[in-house]
Amino acid sequence: MRVRKLAYALGAEITGVDLKQDLDAGMIAAIRAAWLEHLVLVFPGQNLTTEEHIRFSRRFGELELHALKNLQGKEHPEILEITNRIIDGKRSETAEVGRQWHTDGSATTRPSLGSLLYCRAMPEAGGNTWFASMYAAYNTLSDTMKGVLDPLESVQDLGYFYGNRGIGAREADKVSADIGDNPAVVQPLVTVHPETGRKALFVNESLIRQIHGMNREESAGLLQYLHRHATRPEFTYRHYWRVGDLVMWDNRCTQHLAPRDYDPDQVRHMCRTTLKGHSQGRYLQEAAPAT
Ligand code: OGA
Ligand code: MN
Repeated sequence: MRVRKLAYALGAEITGVDLKQDLDAGMIAAIRAAWLEHLVLVFPGQNLTTEEHIRFSRRFGELELHALKNLQGKEHPEILEITNRIIDGKRSETAEVGRQWHTDGSATTRPSLGSLLYCRAMPEAGGNTWFASMYAAYNTLSDTMKGVLDPLESVQDLGYFYGNRGIGAREADKVSADIGDNPAVVQPLVTVHPETGRKALFVNESLIRQIHGMNREESAGLLQYLHRHATRPEFTYRHYWRVGDLVMWDNRCTQHLAPRDYDPDQVRHMCRTTLKGHSQGRYLQEAAPAT
């Protein structure tokens, strides 16, 4: 197995490993160590069936099912298809997934531990995914700012996300039943990675409605600064996909973004498995004023 760094802050390419094979425990441990060090691993030129993708993913922990039930795979519920393909005569509901910086599962009380995304089809240009290191985002803050942020919590809200995105009423209706099962949560703004012990900024522009205990106006300036700071270009790696790439990222210390930087009439087709995280944060219970 060879490891080649892809960017300064995060990202490494792993070659010399065939993920179709039943890898031994030593190899999985080496991959896990590289993952903790580099945060995002790229395995180029794999040729995986859905079953092989799931089997490899399971070597890193239990898989979770998407909180929105309509997004769980029909044949394999642990697969989330992110695609603009026409399915049953309709454009897939996941066509616009990830257009804002985010961390998978952050608005739940069990944020996703990691995600493994496999590329099945790419438009001829664009279709990239960007990643940012939340260790770098935290480390580069002043000690005074770290001291301010360390005890703070965010309110993360799927309802805010849909409002925020300006999604049309019809689409909002479709997801509203599921949102009802996913009330707003409170999450720490700074987390300690349970395996590396390193501190990471746990922010994202798509789901954080406000700082817990502050009103939205008080929160807005600080959040705007944090979102801009956290995704500074020097903290990022941009992945240019090729069909057959598997990319595995650690949600405990990264954010990612899928810009619409491609022709929407060309097919982009990705399959994701998601590693179940640990319990973190709590429900908001709507006692605090919302504005
Ligand atoms: C994801 C996601 C990014 C992409 O899989 O969690 O946000 O590039 N997708 O499709
Ligand atoms: Mn995502």
